[in-house]
Amino acid sequence: MAKSSKFDKKTEIMHVSLDPQGNHGIPNPPIYRASTILSETMAQYRGEEPSAYDYGRVGTPTSRAFEEAICALYEADDAISTPSGLSAINTALLTYAKSGDHILFPDSLYGSTRRFVTKMLPNYGVDVEFYPARIDAAIADYIKPNTSVLYLESPGSLTFELQDIPAMVAIAQEKNITTMLDNTWGTALHHNALNMGVDIILEAATKYITGHSDVNLGIACARGSHAKKLRFATTALGMCAGPEDLYLGVRGLRTMSLRLKQSEANGLALAQMIEMQQEVKAVLHPALETSPDHAIYKRDFTGSCGLFGFILSPSLDQAVIDKAANNLNLLQIGASWGGFESLITQAILTSKMREFAPDMPDGYLMRIYAGLEDQQDLLADVQQFFDALR
Ligand SMILES: Cc1ncc(COP(=O)(O)O)c(C=O)c1O
Repeated sequence: MAKSSKFDKKTEIMHVSLDPQGNHGIPNPPIYRASTILSETMAQYRGEEPSAYDYGRVGTPTSRAFEEAICALYEADDAISTPSGLSAINTALLTYAKSGDHILFPDSLYGSTRRFVTKMLPNYGVDVEFYPARIDAAIADYIKPNTSVLYLESPGSLTFELQDIPAMVAIAQEKNITTMLDNTWGTALHHNALNMGVDIILEAATKYITGHSDVNLGIACARGSHAKKLRFATTALGMCAGPEDLYLGVRGLRTMSLRLKQSEANGLALAQMIEMQQEVKAVLHPALETSPDHAIYKRDFTGSCGLFGFILSPSLDQAVIDKAANNLNLLQIGASWGGFESLITQAILTSKMREFAPDMPDGYLMRIYAGLEDQQDLLADVQQFFDALR
């Protein structure tokens, strides 16, 4: 296992994987653009003599700087980088999925992952089954002799249910089932689930790591034999992220903890204010004391982030909600999160997106990403959204 540093992760993230001595005193790594990487001798080309790098797709000093930093933050043995969060997830799934396998997914699965596992994995002879997100130890009832992977996402997309990861991992370990977690919300700074026994951590570095709404990038990391399998599959599948994006990943890490802190604080302030509004049936944010998942949050997470949901009363009119949202000054309407600007969206959970009725009141399901703006300005903007509903 990678050694854990004597520094707090928030300090480590500033310095990890920098090599100014090897780079003319320049702190940040260069952006290496490469397909060809020359060998010094034919013997080296044939692999009879060692070489640090042999082909651009397989790795460069730029990808290594990013992947080493991710390893250090998660205390992983290896981390692979891919061109998007979704491709990191799919690479990990393709590493393990074999014809005849049964794989379990939470019903609150991120929509694009759901599309891959329902529309593509079955073509390879994989039996895909969904379970209710808050099933916890009763996951045991879903396990079959051919279950090979238990996939976790905590909190779940759009509906924000937390999962009891230690309880679920214990059951998977007993049955020799590989566990994977989409940890994009928790991040390495607030939720290191490798230390809770999860085998593979997946994260969309698109969100808080790069942090400026201008990059798609993914990571998967693991320890021991899982790390080796992931590396092999990444090379076999030809997954490689672009050098500029990898560089922005390394650069983003240096400010991530500050950005996350501001976004988390803004998210909590907005969530608490929204909870007080008469039109709101529920706020979906595990860090709120009113959340049904708060005990798990307190036990497993050291912090939250700026993404949460809320449910507006079904007695409201869609046109009135649209008008209020269209008139927001700061919050923009758009997908993704983890960037600098605050966002608002609405989701309609169709039967294609959920097999089990989510455990929440009826109404309009809204999602806010709280960005880095001044908190009072954000509160005022969201207050005028609620005033416009009245
Ligand atoms: C929870 C979660 N996982 C993965 C992803 C995928 O990341 P990307 O858009 O880089 O493929 C997203 C993107 O919204 C996400 O919200």
